[in-house]
Amino acid sequence: MRNRVDVMHGVNFDVLERRPGSHYGGLSLRQLEVRVNHFAKDLGLEPQFWQTNHEGEFCEMLHRAGESADGVVLNPGAWTHYSWAIRDALEVSRLPAIEVHLSEVDAREDWRSVSVIRDLCVGRVQGKGVDGYREALELLGKELTK
Ligand code: DQA
Repeated sequence: MRNRVDVMHGVNFDVLERRPGSHYGGLSLRQLEVRVNHFAKDLGLEPQFWQTNHEGEFCEMLHRAGESADGVVLNPGAWTHYSWAIRDALEVSRLPAIEVHLSEVDAREDWRSVSVIRDLCVGRVQGKGVDGYREALELLGKELTK
């Protein structure tokens, strides 16, 4: 059964509760992960959670992801908009991936509407807060049963 999912957060998610509540909801990464864990279990998925502030480490996590996961839900934060290294590492993982953002990145500054990982992902969710992760997991779950 293909149901192992890596849920990966990038730079500045360790201080999520200190970032603008209007965009990110004011909750901590731990609180977010608890909710996402429930969503995943409801959908019959087995999640593992990762976060780092270091780009190279995020790349290495993606290099290894194929050993322990069948798919990835990733929110690389600001790296989404410019990190070609993370894009290349996601390609190396060869895993189905869903891009997710808490805020509606397309409705904010122009630079946030750029995503260098978008075309490698089988789905994209934005602007739905934590509930967006449920949608992302549903999309990934469907992909894994194909
Ligand atoms: C974010 C949006 C990014 O533009 C920002 O840099 C983040 C969070 C989101 O979840 O809305 O760190 O990925």
